[in-house]
Amino acid sequence: MKTYANWPETYPDPAWFREDPFGLFIHFGLYTMGARHEWFMTTEKVSPEDYQKYFDHFNPDLFDAAEWVAVAKATGVKYVVITTKHHEGFALWDTQLSTYKITNTPFQRDLIAELVPKLREAGIKVGFYHSVIDWHHPEFPIDGLHPQREVPQYIASNDTREIKKYQDYLAGQVTELLTNYGKIDYIWFDFSYSHRDWEWSKGKGAKDWDSQRLEELCFTLQPEILINDRLDLNRGISTPEQYQPNQPLIKENLPVLWEACQTMNGTWGYDRDNLAWKSSEMLVKMLIETISLDGNFLMNIGPNGRGLIDPIALTRLAEIGAWFKLHQRGISHCGASAFEAPTDCRYTQNGNRLYLHLFSWPYQHIHLKGLADKIAYAQLLNDGSEIFFRSFDPDEVITSTETAINPADSLLILPTKKPDVLVPVIEIFLKD
Ligand code: GLC
Repeated sequence: MKTYANWPETYPDPAWFREDPFGLFIHFGLYTMGARHEWFMTTEKVSPEDYQKYFDHFNPDLFDAAEWVAVAKATGVKYVVITTKHHEGFALWDTQLSTYKITNTPFQRDLIAELVPKLREAGIKVGFYHSVIDWHHPEFPIDGLHPQREVPQYIASNDTREIKKYQDYLAGQVTELLTNYGKIDYIWFDFSYSHRDWEWSKGKGAKDWDSQRLEELCFTLQPEILINDRLDLNRGISTPEQYQPNQPLIKENLPVLWEACQTMNGTWGYDRDNLAWKSSEMLVKMLIETISLDGNFLMNIGPNGRGLIDPIALTRLAEIGAWFKLHQRGISHCGASAFEAPTDCRYTQNGNRLYLHLFSWPYQHIHLKGLADKIAYAQLLNDGSEIFFRSFDPDEVITSTETAINPADSLLILPTKKPDVLVPVIEIFLKD
């Protein structure tokens, strides 16, 4: 097993995660119906009585697990992380520990039970997002993030709220999820905020969730499961959110196992009036950039209240999938390269295959630093067409119309016209 700064030796081998580093995040819950950010329950300080209407009317009647999975498959992702419960506390499976669950809504069906087998049939690994925060549970102490943070009776109720009871509930629901749905490949807890302090209340972290117990539970029930870092235990897959690092993450001289999670439009749940959509090209570039820095890329969608993935997201997924189909070799099994990529380009590498991703298409020539005499063959990945290359010959007579090529570099000779793909990639076969 490869060594990572944030991955204890006792943890299971995360090899698959790095080999297939492109995943799909799905945010779905009662907040989907409010259609204005999955946090609106607390940003608008909605009372439980007012939030109840979403529960009473929840009916994503057009939800079809096979359709979601077909879309995931066509996008090219090899793992999906689905919200089982978000901060609002609503369970998307038929939990026996609460009545605040999907099977008690007009929809009546267990979404997790329908989705998981379809994912598995399609060869897509299964990840469960699970919120350790719960704004619905009666024993969850009111703090500065809670929707009822300004309601005196609620604040006063902290005297009788017992977080120990909430911890048991949390562990109980995690037990259900990791027992009743077969093999689960990834558990994605969300999130700790032990550094927060509102004076009248403190943030919550490992002690509040009894994280150690949760972690043990996960490995007992699912010995091969991967786990993220949001339990406040200082280990697990690091999950920078809506942020792109510009170098591979390193801690104590060791690589960090990490996953960038990114939205298509800045929110995770369905957000009807949000127009800040990233283009497919931008999303593909973010994917490439992340892989070029040894990270995973978890790209989010928030299906709508009918259970459909909206057309704007579908267009992006289709375009990204079309790109991925042609360029998967430059993503899967790939990581950072030791070579320095030219301006406006990123490298990914898998053994002696080096992938040059061109974020902007140059005129005819591109100089590859340090690659003189190292290239055996080069081709455009989208159509397998040969790309000529050359390096500097010291005996060559340089005419006045040419400048010298750095003897340490290789020069690729590109067609004038950019191939018609979101980001063209040149596959370079390095000499052994
Ligand atoms: C966050 C948010 C959230 C989202 C998520 C994804 O911290 O609370 O709404 O689900 O993490 O990374």
